[in-house]
Amino acid sequence: MQDVIRIYPDPDMTVRACAAFIARKIEEALETKEYVSIGLSGGSSPNMLFTVLFEEYREGILWDKIKFFWVDERCVAPDDAESNFGTAKKLLLDPLKIQDKNIFRIFGENEPPAEVERYTDLLEKEFGPEIGFDICLLGIGTDGHTASIFPPDIKLMESKKFVATTVNPNTGQNRITITGRLINNCKAVIFLAYGKEKKEVLDGILNHKKREHYPAGLVFNVRFGVYWYLDSAAYRLP
Ligand code: 6PG
Repeated sequence: MQDVIRIYPDPDMTVRACAAFIARKIEEALETKEYVSIGLSGGSSPNMLFTVLFEEYREGILWDKIKFFWVDERCVAPDDAESNFGTAKKLLLDPLKIQDKNIFRIFGENEPPAEVERYTDLLEKEFGPEIGFDICLLGIGTDGHTASIFPPDIKLMESKKFVATTVNPNTGQNRITITGRLINNCKAVIFLAYGKEKKEVLDGILNHKKREHYPAGLVFNVRFGVYWYLDSAAYRLP
């Protein structure tokens, strides 16, 4: 089982179903663990999810048992409109009053190579030698990138490192990203994507036309499969 594909009529229902799944995964994990680690994606797709998690699950999830990490960050200050952390802070962390001790952001304001070292050390302290989140939330770009692993850097899906620097080839923006090694070490890997602009890339990946050409196509999870939360504008079963 590689792909667990779940399709919904519109973005709102997709996001709500994804939120319910995340809540279930958190509950399951807390049966055997004191804390649950979640790696948050950036971009715009998670914004509706953050709002639903706050509005519908502020009571239903033990938020002080969640440790927040990021799958990538733009190399900007945390208060920059482009910051993935800044967006999550505004829509989720501040509304839920998440304590700083449970927030492990990537410092986009640091020199990228130095930040790769710092974040890698931080992750090794948290997870030990084989780093992997309990839940990894990913988005997908129209070019098939995920986290900040863009097609020119697809080799990072096979990297021995856990964190790397990249450049967005469309904008020249420096990025810090987790690699395929970390993504594929995670327990629950969830893609959230909706909208017709994602149709072509999802067809290319999920209908196995040229899966290996896309970084997102090289995400796998041998234990539980990769979960795809998609709306019907983004994907239809063949
Ligand atoms: C980022 C994200 C990135 C994102 C895709 C999709 O920092 O931009 O981590 O991987 O998930 O670019 O972005 P949208 O959700 O805005 O389409």
